[in-house]
Amino acid sequence: MRILVTGGAGYIGTHTCLVLQQAGHDVAVLDNLANSKREGLTRVEALSGRPLGFYHVDLLDPPEVDRVFREFAPEAVLHFAALKAVGESVQFPAKYYQNNVTGTLNLCAAMDRHAVRTLVFSSSATVYGAPEEIPIREEAPLRATNPYGWSKVMMELILTDLHRADPTWRLSVLRYFNPVGAHQSGTIGEDPTGIPNNLFPYVTQVAVGKLDNLQIFGGDYPTADGTGIRDYIHVVDLAEGHLRALERLDPNGGHQIYNLGTGRGYSVLDVVRAFERIVGRAIPYEIVDRRSGDVAECYADPGRARTALQWEAGRDLDQMCEDAWRWQSQNPSGYA
Ligand code: NAD
Ligand code: WQD
Repeated sequence: MRILVTGGAGYIGTHTCLVLQQAGHDVAVLDNLANSKREGLTRVEALSGRPLGFYHVDLLDPPEVDRVFREFAPEAVLHFAALKAVGESVQFPAKYYQNNVTGTLNLCAAMDRHAVRTLVFSSSATVYGAPEEIPIREEAPLRATNPYGWSKVMMELILTDLHRADPTWRLSVLRYFNPVGAHQSGTIGEDPTGIPNNLFPYVTQVAVGKLDNLQIFGGDYPTADGTGIRDYIHVVDLAEGHLRALERLDPNGGHQIYNLGTGRGYSVLDVVRAFERIVGRAIPYEIVDRRSGDVAECYADPGRARTALQWEAGRDLDQMCEDAWRWQSQNPSGYA
């Protein structure tokens, strides 16, 4: 199949492009490189041994998006392109709504014009806000706690209505929990700009000596060790979930929503201890105040994806840490 991957130069996109190519698909990436580098795609090509189409295009530029559809003529789209920094979205909400929501509207309009109505969409567990029940099921109410999260809720609502209006759309909405780790080769991985916001890249940068110590946000949560619990999922498991979601789309149209998580929660201290075992030395940390907007505990009920997609995240916490560490230690400055 000819698959267009928006945001394919980013962290999850590069891993998914590789899985798609390895499954024999013809892949092209549309990315404005706002938060990624071309080098990631060069490395995907080296791993797959196959060329990857690349369009340096912004989804906010509809004529250019149209050109991509004319030239590449995709049969399906995987839509990763978005801005994703929670704190930045609070500071610059209009930028986030404009990029994420308008970008998605432009993409859907181009898809409709070119009669490509097969879409796998990157959503997030952030759409559950502070969940009332854990593990979280797909039926849980949608409510975000920041503009980034609301942009995901809005994009999901837009897709729901598109399918209502034209049931020939084939839509799979994937709500990721906490994607971490890297490809086992250590040649592609997460390359955050500046000081990382997320736990895994922060810990690996402490371990490699780029940052002095980890600040653990809150030691007084109602959890076993007092630190926050999350459902970390290996990025390659996540990438494989996209392939499966694409393969399982109903040829006659449909709209499915799946949690992609492991169903297992680990605390911040569990993650620190796992890294210490793998790196072979202590990770210096201090426990500080809670980070505003954080919840105590968040993990998926992954049952629907297991049943309907016959997909399960198989890689465990040690493998997530090992692969994250291999990537960080082999590429201390990321793709630079
Ligand atoms: P990323 O920033 O590494 O990748 C996103 C890519 O989209 C980047 O390469 C960026 O340059 C591109 N992009 C952004 N705006 C664009 C635009 N207007 N036009 C063209 N390209 C554009 O992020 P990621 O971690 O790979 O996330 C991929 C998707 O998954 C995003 O939609 C994100 O919201 C979602 N998601 C990520 C996480 C996570 O923790 N990483 C969790 C849940 C959901
Ligand atoms: C994990 C745990 C922190 C950093 C975010 C987004 C979410 C989704 C995934 C896109 C928490 C603690 C972290 C640090 C720490 N993204 N922590 N010190 O917040 O669960 O989810 O990424 O959709 O929308 O909000 O992930 O990795 O930032 O935090 O103690 O320096 O680690 O408090 O308990 P989070 P995270």
